[in-house]
Amino acid sequence: MPVYQTVKEMTGALAAARRGGLSIGLVPTMGALHEGHASLIRAACAENDYVVVSVFVNPTQFAPAEDLSAYPRDLEKDRRLAEAIGARAVFAPSVEEMYPEGDSTWVEVGGRLTGLLCGRSRPTHFRGVTTVMTKFFNIIRPDRTYFGQKDGQQAQVMRRLLTDLFLPVELKILPIVREKDDLALSSRNIYLSEDERRAALVLSRSLKEARGRLENGERSRAAILDGLKNAVQSEPLAVLDYAEIYNFPDLGETGAELSGQVFIGLAVKFSRARLIDNIVVDLG
Ligand code: PAJ
Repeated sequence: MPVYQTVKEMTGALAAARRGGLSIGLVPTMGALHEGHASLIRAACAENDYVVVSVFVNPTQFAPAEDLSAYPRDLEKDRRLAEAIGARAVFAPSVEEMYPEGDSTWVEVGGRLTGLLCGRSRPTHFRGVTTVMTKFFNIIRPDRTYFGQKDGQQAQVMRRLLTDLFLPVELKILPIVREKDDLALSSRNIYLSEDERRAALVLSRSLKEARGRLENGERSRAAILDGLKNAVQSEPLAVLDYAEIYNFPDLGETGAELSGQVFIGLAVKFSRARLIDNIVVDLG
């Protein structure tokens, strides 16, 4: 399976696929592929004839102090994994290819959606994601694209982007894939020391506890948030970045009493890794 590194090569291959009447699926990634990415590629291969996996560590979505240079990269391993699942091409352009000299256009989803949760701790992050994704959508012109609920806010930002720009791409959002002990898979888990790996279970554990309280009839937003914050703060290696509850899927504000579908999101910092996780609970 080919790895295309230029826009020209990629669009050439896609033109041939389109002439053959093939439907096109896009799975955008930053590489270091794991079972979470694999679940997206599998879904894409089940629903499209020609699946492109993009592998691009997008510099514009990292703030200067973040882990851009440390971000794990292994293109050959990623290529093999994508191929084994049935993808037809990997698109792995260079930074210069995606942002050639003179590049000066940003695509930004404004408003409150990009200002909350990860947008508060990473104010320029989503602008980088929506800019690079608009480029990918224009290059690949997929029929469908696949995102993970792991980055639940990113998925909703994508929905907004596609809707607002009338981009004719169907968005599919797939469930979070977890390790056996429930840690959400992430390319950043490799930054964790052995002790931190154990401590990182505080994310899924505290979210499950919150779900348990809701299932037992608790409806107070403040009580659920307090429980989450206390759970994270009781873990010495973990530093809470945020614990938040919003309505799902629009991520609108909830009342003091929770109802309907709620999104509970957590971000927690360890020495080198900032991890996120979330659950959606349907309160009926
Ligand atoms: P990356 O972090 O590589 O994630 C690529 C896709 O895989 C995202 O849609 C993400 O939600 C999904 N994913 C990651 N871990 C997952 C898990 N444990 N279960 C299910 N899905 C999971 O997200 C990005 O890259 C970038 O922001 C990108 C969209 C590629 C733009 O640069």
